[in-house]
Amino acid sequence: MGIGYNLTLEDLEHDPGPLLTRLRSEEPVCFIPALDMWLVTRWDDVAFIEDHSELFSAATEPSFLARTLGPNMLTMDAQEASRCRSAMLPPFQAGGVAGSFVAGQLADMSNDLIDDFASAGCADLMTSYAAPLSAATLATVLGIDHHGWAQVWEWCEGLCSDLANFTNDPELRALGQRTRDSLAEAIGLAIDAAGSGEPGSDFETAIGAFCFSRPEGGPLTRDEIINNVRLMISGGINEPRDGVGLVVATVLREPGLLDELRADPSLWRRCVDEVFRLHSPVGTITRQATQGVELGGAFIKGGDLVSGVLRSANRDERRWTDPDQFNLHRHDGGHAAFGLGAHRCLGEWMGRQVVRIGSMRLFERLQNLELVGDEQVDIRGFEFRGPTSLRCRWDAP
Ligand code: HEM
Repeated sequence: MGIGYNLTLEDLEHDPGPLLTRLRSEEPVCFIPALDMWLVTRWDDVAFIEDHSELFSAATEPSFLARTLGPNMLTMDAQEASRCRSAMLPPFQAGGVAGSFVAGQLADMSNDLIDDFASAGCADLMTSYAAPLSAATLATVLGIDHHGWAQVWEWCEGLCSDLANFTNDPELRALGQRTRDSLAEAIGLAIDAAGSGEPGSDFETAIGAFCFSRPEGGPLTRDEIINNVRLMISGGINEPRDGVGLVVATVLREPGLLDELRADPSLWRRCVDEVFRLHSPVGTITRQATQGVELGGAFIKGGDLVSGVLRSANRDERRWTDPDQFNLHRHDGGHAAFGLGAHRCLGEWMGRQVVRIGSMRLFERLQNLELVGDEQVDIRGFEFRGPTSLRCRWDAP
């Protein structure tokens, strides 16, 4: 009987590390009946999945992503998705709307959020800072910030609840539908405003840029913009939030790390990437086998769902030296926290900047920042992983 036979999602949620180490060693491609899918845990096998979309398709059936968000670039294979990707990637890079935002507004936005709670001398930095920063940055770049970060956060939660609704709970389905409709209206208004001088109207916002983009094959349709912006809201807010939480927790816990970062602030970039490797806030990629295929000693039937475990690939001892250790000066090569293939994260550049600058501002502004009571930070989740809370204190100004 295989290792996966009795495994449940709860086993993977709390502390997946030891289990993933065992799977990599003994059964690197392992069927998990409770999830009705294969877990693929070694770096080379995950990279193989990412390199072979003809064998492992992103267009899964059924697809929670397509059901909740509408068809989008992550529910299609590379060729079909390429028009949307080529139109939507540039605004999120250094030369696009995100680049101007990071250079101009990001530090002020972080400062304003810190001003709201600094005088209290203590807070849960996940809820007071990481969540609002993450929602507000994406909303501003998209051009829907006039709805307020709390509304954008609510949209994100509404979509995510339905995306994780594996039991088809009717209440969650209804919440997903309401969120989907409400977002269609908000994004539709931003599309209608394009070129009119109203919020969301021009190249100053990503939605404006999507409207004016002319990719090969024709401009994006209204539905393509709406569905893919829903994808960005469901996938581009929790991750930078968890990223900020994980980076701050690491800097507070790793002996000597803060001193090293203060002595050479250029090391913050490495720090953020090493945290992404070590914790992989997005744990997996889901694909479907298009035909029978042998991988890592197992035979996967056509139609089976396959989960490439990025978090495990990022700790594969075949690729990394001392993989479970945080090492600021690691030279093992690039990690897989943003994916490795055709669906590599669209918001990677922007996400890295938000996490880096957002974390740096906290240490610059809050003197003697420390965890309350030196307590262990509870880090949870398999699909998405981050601190459940980050209770800190500092010298109130
Ligand atoms: C900073 C932390 C982030 C992490 C760790 C992360 C991670 C990932 C990963 C692993 C994927 C690949 C999913 C797959 O192949 O199944 C992905 C895709 C994607 N991410 Fe991110 N992400 C982050 C931030 C963002 C942000 C800020 C956005 C905002 C636009 C975003 C938008 C997307 C989109 C649209 C895709 C789908 C790309 C495609 O299908 O071609 N992500 N992300």
